Amino acid sequence: MKIDPLLKQINPPPRLIMGPGPVNADPRVQRAMSADLLGQYDPAMTEYMNEVMTLYRIVFQTENHWTFLIDGTSRAAIESSLVSLIEKGDKVLVPVFGRFGHLLTEIASRCGAEVIAISKEWGQIFTPEEIEAALDEHHPKVLAICQGDTSTTMNQPLDTIGKLCAERGVLSYVDATASIGGNELLIGDWGIDICTAGLQKCLGGPSGSGPITISETAAALIQERWHVEKGIEPAGFIPGKQSRIQSNYFDLAMLMAYWSPQRLNHHTEATSMLYCARECARCIVEEGLGKVLARHELGSAAMVRGLQALGLQLFGDLSHKMTNVTGVYIPDTVDGEAVRRDMLHYFGVEIGTSFGPLHGKIWRIGAMGYNARRDAILRTLNALSSCLRLHGYKAPEHDAALAALEVFKSEELGPADIEISPVSKIR
Ligand SMILES: Cc1ncc(COP(=O)(O)O)c(C=O)c1O
Repeated sequence: MKIDPLLKQINPPPRLIMGPGPVNADPRVQRAMSADLLGQYDPAMTEYMNEVMTLYRIVFQTENHWTFLIDGTSRAAIESSLVSLIEKGDKVLVPVFGRFGHLLTEIASRCGAEVIAISKEWGQIFTPEEIEAALDEHHPKVLAICQGDTSTTMNQPLDTIGKLCAERGVLSYVDATASIGGNELLIGDWGIDICTAGLQKCLGGPSGSGPITISETAAALIQERWHVEKGIEPAGFIPGKQSRIQSNYFDLAMLMAYWSPQRLNHHTEATSMLYCARECARCIVEEGLGKVLARHELGSAAMVRGLQALGLQLFGDLSHKMTNVTGVYIPDTVDGEAVRRDMLHYFGVEIGTSFGPLHGKIWRIGAMGYNARRDAILRTLNALSSCLRLHGYKAPEHDAALAALEVFKSEELGPADIEISPVSKIR
C-alpha cells in the first residue's frame, strides 16, 4: 500500500549548511524551542522577556534600555526601524555597497522617504571621509547602512559613523543581520541609534526573530509618534504630537509599550522564537563574546588558507572581509552550479552563489555561528576540492583541508581572547 507523502513525518536530509546563512542551528537552540509554551502575561514569560533584553544588551554591546525582539525575520526588524523613524518626505542617506544596501533604499522609499543613495563597486567599502562628505552635502534626517553585506562578503567599518551622524543631528541606523556575533560591533561605543539583527547567521539560530536596540535619542523621537489603537488605550493616555507610524505591526512606539512593565497589548509574542532568541544569546554570553569573535576570525583564516591552497582567487577587499563568509571566484573552467549541486548531493554540504552582478561569478562560503567549527570547515574544503576535481578543475597538488588544519593547529595553544564587557557590566 502506498503511503500518502502528505502523511509522512518530516525528515529533512542531513546537511552541513556552509553558505552565507542561514546555517545549521545550535542543537541547544533547537532544544530550547521545544520547551512548553506559556501564557503571554505569565510572570515566567515576562521574566524571560526581561532576560532577553539583558542578554541582547551584551550581544549588541550597549546599555540601551530599549533592546528587545521584533517578531519576524531580520527584514521585519529593518522595516520596523525605518517605518518608525521616517515621516513622509524625510531625507534618508543610504551608502550602498551590495544587495542589502539596495534593500534599505527600497524599504526607506516605501516609507515615503526622499532616498539619496551613494554607491560603491561590489567588493569595496566606504571610507569614513566619503560618508562624512555625503552627510554634509545632503543633510539627511537618517543615515541607513549595512555592516556586513552578505551579497559581497564585505564588512563596512562603522566605528566613526555614529559620531559623525550625532555631530550633525542625523539619526544612524545599522543592519547588522549578517555580521553580529562574528564581527566586532560596539553599538554603545560607536553611538549608533538603532541597530537590528537576525538569528540565522552568527547567532546560531533559525531565522524568525529580529533583535533590535534603540538609543534614548531615537526612542524619544519615536515616542512622540505614539498612537495607541482603539480599545486598549491606557487611562489618561495622551497621543504623541508627531505623525502616526504608518505600520501597526512594526510600530516601535507600541512595541516599546508592550516590552515595558506596562505590557500594553500588541501582538501575541512568538513564545518559541523568544526561547530560541534567548538561547542564542545565552550560548554566546556563556562562551564569551570575545571568544566567539575569535572563533569566527580563526575559521575565516583557515577557510582563506584552504581556498588559496586550491589555487582559487578570493573576491573583494580582503582587509574588510566579513569573518563569517568568504567570497571566491568560480574558476572559468567549471560550471559553478554543477559543483555546488554535487557538493550537496555527494557530501551533504551546501555553499552559496551570489546575487546581481556577482551571480554565477563567485561562490560564498560561510563558517558562522554553530558552524564556525574546525570539523565543519575541513569537511567543506574536502567536499569542494573533490567536486572541483570531479568537474575537471586542475587543482594544485596542495591539500586544502590540510592547509586549513595547519592554521587551526597553529592556534591550538590558545587563540587571542578579545576583551569584551562581561555579563555584569551591562544590565
Ligand atoms: C545583511 C542582511 N540584511 C538583511 C537580510 C534579510 O534577512 P531575512 O531574510 O532574515 O529577512 C539578510 C539576509 O540574508 C542579510 O544578509
